Amino acid sequence: MARSFAQLARNAEKNKAAIAVSKDPLENPPLEIHKLGNRALRKPARRVSKVDESIRDLVRDMLRSMYSAKGIGLAAPQVGIHKQILVIDTDLETPSTPPLVLINPEIISTSASIETYEEGCLSIPGVYLDVIRPASIKISFRDEMGRPKKMNADGLISRCIQHEMDHLNGVLFVDRVTSPEDLKRELQENGFRNEDVNPLD
Ligand code: NI
Repeated sequence: MARSFAQLARNAEKNKAAIAVSKDPLENPPLEIHKLGNRALRKPARRVSKVDESIRDLVRDMLRSMYSAKGIGLAAPQVGIHKQILVIDTDLETPSTPPLVLINPEIISTSASIETYEEGCLSIPGVYLDVIRPASIKISFRDEMGRPKKMNADGLISRCIQHEMDHLNGVLFVDRVTSPEDLKRELQENGFRNEDVNPLD
């Protein structure tokens, strides 16, 4: 059976409308991104029990805040919300490329092969350091409509997902840096103190 033109248009509208926001930076982004030294970054996130319109509203605000900061990934704990929600978009230059929304993501498997890649984080602006991680991963998650999904990822997307999933456990990429001397220097040069890495209450 062929679907009518009207049905196709409706479906296209439904898919597109789910979470799409403009990628243009906003002068006043809706959410503040917490910086290294803030305890919120060290608190683990809880699973989302129901993916509803309030979660999609939050996802849109996370996307607007991420795009405004020119980031390619953002985890809800970075904006002080301890829910297992990630937004990722490694193609900031193309307005039509949809972002990836991962709710309750879980790693199913990781590759034996590892890769070194220079990471940065919107919560630790200016600091860029090499981190070693598995090259590719297989994950399960729910999308912004609550649909269960699985995906394989490699390259930059794999790297970004692993970095953002760490945030859900209160782990930051600086915890995984192999050179403590480089870390110390980078933090200092960018206005952070060593004690910001593990702040006390
Ligand atoms: Ni980060």
